[in-house]
Amino acid sequence: MTVVSPLPHAMRPVISGRVGNIEVIPLPGVMGAEIRGLDLRRLDDHSFRILHRAYLDHLLVLLRGQQLRDGDMVAVARRFGEFELPPVTAEQVAHRGTHPEITVVSNVRVNDAPIGELGDGEVIWHSDYSFREIIAGMRMLHALEVPPAGEGANTEFRNMYATYDALPDVLKRRIHGATIKHDTAYDTNRRLRRGALPVADPRLGDGPDHPIVSTHPDTGCNSLFLGRRPRHYVNGCTLDESEALLDALWAHATQPRFGFAHAWRQGDVVLWDNRCTIHRRGAFNPAARRIMHATQVKGHKPFAAADAASRPPHPRACLHGNG
Ligand code: OGA
Ligand code: MN
Repeated sequence: MTVVSPLPHAMRPVISGRVGNIEVIPLPGVMGAEIRGLDLRRLDDHSFRILHRAYLDHLLVLLRGQQLRDGDMVAVARRFGEFELPPVTAEQVAHRGTHPEITVVSNVRVNDAPIGELGDGEVIWHSDYSFREIIAGMRMLHALEVPPAGEGANTEFRNMYATYDALPDVLKRRIHGATIKHDTAYDTNRRLRRGALPVADPRLGDGPDHPIVSTHPDTGCNSLFLGRRPRHYVNGCTLDESEALLDALWAHATQPRFGFAHAWRQGDVVLWDNRCTIHRRGAFNPAARRIMHATQVKGHKPFAAADAASRPPHPRACLHGNG
């Protein structure tokens, strides 16, 4: 059974400003906060409470100038939940060091073999592990080496509480109670996963069904849960109806007013909540080197609360006239 927070998150003010040496500075727009004055290598119970609160309130937290070794990253992530271990590949094992929890995200090649995943091509809009029954919770990326500013390779994020809240009523009514069958065959570089069979008809895939309106287990607020776009299917619709509804939801949810693009600097740590956000990355200059280390924890099986239709919006869903 999943317990939904008894105190709707929307009733509490979001964390912002200075708490001792730590400063929480909301980013402009509808999501994100920068935390200053916190070295993640020295995270303790008190500073974790601030970090975790900022994560739930702002969906994404940025900390600049961090110098984490893989063991430090593992120690931070462990506080957020149980690890979701990445698939084991030869490249990953060779380049992530001794920590199986760490994934390398990179376009760098050594001896003509990639040292990590996702390369330098486009990474389409997605939330992590949305194609599994248990989706990812928190994922963090630490930028070890990044292309010069202006070379692209930014990561864009959207606040899916805000996209839910701003949906026209007619669409909201259509999606309450509806589920999407999430494709498992293709990855976010649009490539067939190892061992997967090609799927032409999205109705025939074998991915999990998740509700489109998803109630967050910690905040109690609703967000849109779309996963990825290609070969997904709204159960019970004709294929044409499903394609039209998914196209409408994606066109709405990816609007820039619902998020921002993060321009990476070396030393950045960005950690985000996959239960209520989506992200993408554009293709970037193949001659530029980009090396990130990543780790993530398990989230939950998405569900919609029985009273989802009457739940208050997340406090960051309606800032700056976006409601
Ligand atoms: C990820 C991801 C995009 C990027 O690591 O989950 O989607 O900017 N990364 O590398
Ligand atoms: Mn991702």
